[in-house]
Amino acid sequence: MTMLRSVIKGVGAALPEKILTNAEIAARVDTNDAWITQRTGIKQRHVAEEGEKTSDLATKAAQAALAHAGLGIDAIDAIIVATTTPDETFPATATRVQANLGMHRGFAFDVQAVCSGFIYGLTIADQMIRGGLVRKVLVIGAETMSRLLDWNDRTTCILFGDGAGAVVLQAESGKGDSSDRGILSSHLFSDGRQHDLLYVTGGPSTSKNVGSIKMQGREVFRHAVDHMADVVLHALKENNMTVADLDWLVPHQANLRILNATAEKLAMPMEKIIVTVDKHGNTSAASIPLALASAVAEGKFKPGQLLALEALGGGFTWGAVLLRW
Ligand SMILES: CC(C)(COP(=O)(O)OP(=O)(O)OC[C@H]1O[C@@H](n2cnc3c(N)ncnc32)[C@H](O)[C@@H]1OP(=O)(O)O)[C@@H](O)C(=O)NCCC(=O)NCCS
Repeated sequence: MTMLRSVIKGVGAALPEKILTNAEIAARVDTNDAWITQRTGIKQRHVAEEGEKTSDLATKAAQAALAHAGLGIDAIDAIIVATTTPDETFPATATRVQANLGMHRGFAFDVQAVCSGFIYGLTIADQMIRGGLVRKVLVIGAETMSRLLDWNDRTTCILFGDGAGAVVLQAESGKGDSSDRGILSSHLFSDGRQHDLLYVTGGPSTSKNVGSIKMQGREVFRHAVDHMADVVLHALKENNMTVADLDWLVPHQANLRILNATAEKLAMPMEKIIVTVDKHGNTSAASIPLALASAVAEGKFKPGQLLALEALGGGFTWGAVLLRW
């Protein structure tokens, strides 16, 4: 039986020009390049200039994805921006991006699931496509995490970076089995009991300020390793597949040690895992589309290959998307 599938037709990335190295952070707080490299794998991150907004990065990434897909903005029916660092409390950053792109039809909205935001956004877009509401959707992950950091807190300020990545998702007809191109399945989870392990101290209905990130790093690490491996196994099982079927893992880029531990638990070689955390740091909802764009630029994915995209973030939220390139 034929069915609609959501296929990635284009990817794009945008990173602020300004690069902040570990050595530059070490000049501000009591840390050093060796500690950061050994505990996180991060060497540098991009940081938005004063006045450079999440919507600016999102717009650039979207333009790059449209160009890669060979499409104009008139072809797009909807825009989803996954972000935890919106330009303003309201309206949605996605509507600003819609205006920036010159899109005067369709609709645009934000998704908030912190570092899992892109997985959530992709899932919503896929459901909207398969339900027949839209045919082409821009799904963007965009963040200016630097705005949420306490630059005197060495346990968090070393980890995060700014950037945006985007994909164009398009409806195509498939056979309805796992040989189809496009998204095969999505799997979302959250557990609100884990709030205190990773959160921001502010918000409109609490402090009325933006606040800054607080994290119990070791505990987050432990949960991340458990969930990041389990959710991939779950996605594969739901499709009657095993790790041996997987060509590429595109994980949320939080910490190289988390990626190493996930690879070990899955018994996957690191060569099959896309790694950008060394250059980007943790860019929250932007990290997976940035990793996709980087892998595409390097010509890594071949048509027909099986990819698992996965993330864990504050909430906790976590999830995975299995797709055929
Ligand atoms: C944050 C993280 C890198 C810390 O690494 P860790 O090995 O767990 O280190 P700990 O927190 O146990 O701290 C070990 C020591 O290093 C110190 N330390 C912490 N940050 C430091 C820094 N930037 N530079 C130097 N020393 C630091 C601590 O104070 C502690 O010192 P002590 O032993 O004297 O108390 C790690 O826990 C992590 O990556 N967690 C997951 C975070 C994450 O991914 N969050 C986002 C999820 S979406």
